This record gives sequence, C-alpha cells and structure tokens, in this order.
Amino acid sequence: MIYLNGDFMPIEQAKISVLDRGFIFGDGVYEVIPVYSRRPFRLAEHLVRLQSSMDAIRLVNPNSASKWTELIGKIIAGNPWEDQNVYLQVTRGAAKRDHVFPKGLKPTVFVMASELVPPSAELVKSGAKAIVLPDTRWLRCDIKSTSLLGNCMLRTLAADEGCAEAILVRDGVLTEASASNVFIVKNGTVLTPPKSHLILPGITYDVVLEILRANAITHEVRPVTESELRSAEEVWITSSSREVLAITTLDGKPVGKGEKAGKPGPVGERVYALYQQYKVKVMRAPAHA
Ligand code: PDD
Repeated sequence: MIYLNGDFMPIEQAKISVLDRGFIFGDGVYEVIPVYSRRPFRLAEHLVRLQSSMDAIRLVNPNSASKWTELIGKIIAGNPWEDQNVYLQVTRGAAKRDHVFPKGLKPTVFVMASELVPPSAELVKSGAKAIVLPDTRWLRCDIKSTSLLGNCMLRTLAADEGCAEAILVRDGVLTEASASNVFIVKNGTVLTPPKSHLILPGITYDVVLEILRANAITHEVRPVTESELRSAEEVWITSSSREVLAITTLDGKPVGKGEKAGKPGPVGERVYALYQQYKVKVMRAPAHA
C-alpha cells in the first residue's frame, strides 16, 4: 500500500501527471527512513532534514511533523514487513513547463515502503568493494533532491567494476559516496568530513558520531584528503540501509595493512556492534519517550 496526494492505494493504481515537475525537472525532495520492528528510526531527524531540503528549494512543506508521523505510521501498518524502508517524496507539482519555480502549485506527495534488508552477516564480515571517483555532482549535495542522475551515474560506474559503492573525491578531498557518507581510520583516529554543501548530512553519520562521542572513541571531524583515504587503516560507509559497512578494497587494493589488510578493522567492528546495540535500545524504548 502506498500514499499519494491524500489517498492510500495499491502502487499499481498510483498515477501522476506527466507535467509533474518531479518528472520534468527532478524538482522535488525525498527521505528514506528505516523502520525496525515497525518503529521508524530517527524520524524527527529525518523530518527536520526534509524541512531543510524543502526550505532550500522554496517548497512549502504540505504537512506538519505530526501529519507526516501519522501518514508514515499508516504506511508502516499497511505493509507486510516488520523492518521497512519508508520512502517519501514531495515534488513541486504539475505545471506548464517553465524553469522558474511557479508559485502556489499543489505539491505531489508520495509515500511508499519496501522491505528493509540490512547487509547480510557475510557482507558485514567480509566488507564491501568500492572505487574512488571524481565527485562530478552539483554543489548542493546537502539538499536531498530527487535529481540523482549524478549519483546514479557514479553508482553505475562502481557496479560496472563489481563494486558496492563509489567513494567521491573533489579537489583532492573526500566528500562522501554515491549514496552514503564515509568515515576512515588513520593512526587509530576516526576521521570524517564536516557537513557542508558538498555532502548530504546523513542521519546515520550523526548516529555514528554520537556513538563515537558516547564511547570516547578518538575521532575528528575535519577535511580528509584523497591520500589519507587511500592509505587509511579502515574505511566505512554509513547510510540508513547499509548501516555501518566496512569497505575492504579500494580500486582493487586491500584497505589497511598487515593481517587485517582487506578485512574489516577493529574500530569499525566495534562501531558496528555499538550501532546494533543502539538500534535494539531504541526499538525497545517506550513509543513516545
Ligand atoms: N541515501 N549521502 C548520500 C548521497 C545519500 O544518498 C545517503 C542516503 C547518505 C546517508 O544518509 P542517511 O544516513 O540519512 O541514510 C549520504 C539513501 C538511503 C538513498 O538515497 O537511498
């Protein structure tokens, strides 16, 4: 079951105008919210980021946070899986094709869910492969826009090489990956780039930083150079669907040195375990705590 513009229906019945600016221009924003045991994870934070994306593109939020919460709750209840990815998208709506944002359109509001399948135990144990590519995207990667052609091109180049992710570098520094944020470990210290217009402010990125702080794991939020990325002891990607996943080969070369080369490292393994504990804690907490 999905939600479109006020109604709940099977996805096959959902129809939008061909003049929808989401279709014509990619003029819309979205969120992907993980749901564990039918409870949305970090919903308030996702709704705050949605508001920032909408403000950035002058889109008026059609729903209050409580209305979004209600809609998302209905989608979760109306779908069969205990663990879900709730996808929501708001576009500017349908209008005669004109680049200038028209005022006063009725936005198109769409919410759907799919089964959430976190990385398998085998993948967590082996880690994933990635390639490093120039970040060819635009300069407003902080907006969670549905215009994802740049990300899709980069991710496809990674898939062509049998890789799970493309890790991106702009002007000699690490930005993020095609659909995730990136952390590295250098001399035992966890490093990740600061939030800026060049990266998406990941909800999982924030959770990981909270975990690092709460457990006194040495870390710094600062620019990370391409050479630091390439010589890192550990590389991880973070996202709502991939959680904290080790990258164990970069451009075909093993990450790290010695006996841990090409295998997930100790800091990432610890953070992965802490992330799983945190999820369980949140799932068990009272509903409106
Ligand atoms: N991707 N950076 C980019 C470019 C992303 O697309 C994503 C998420 C992230 C991580 O954000 P979060 O931790 O809030 O999931 C970083 C989602 C899952 C997607 O597009 O499917």
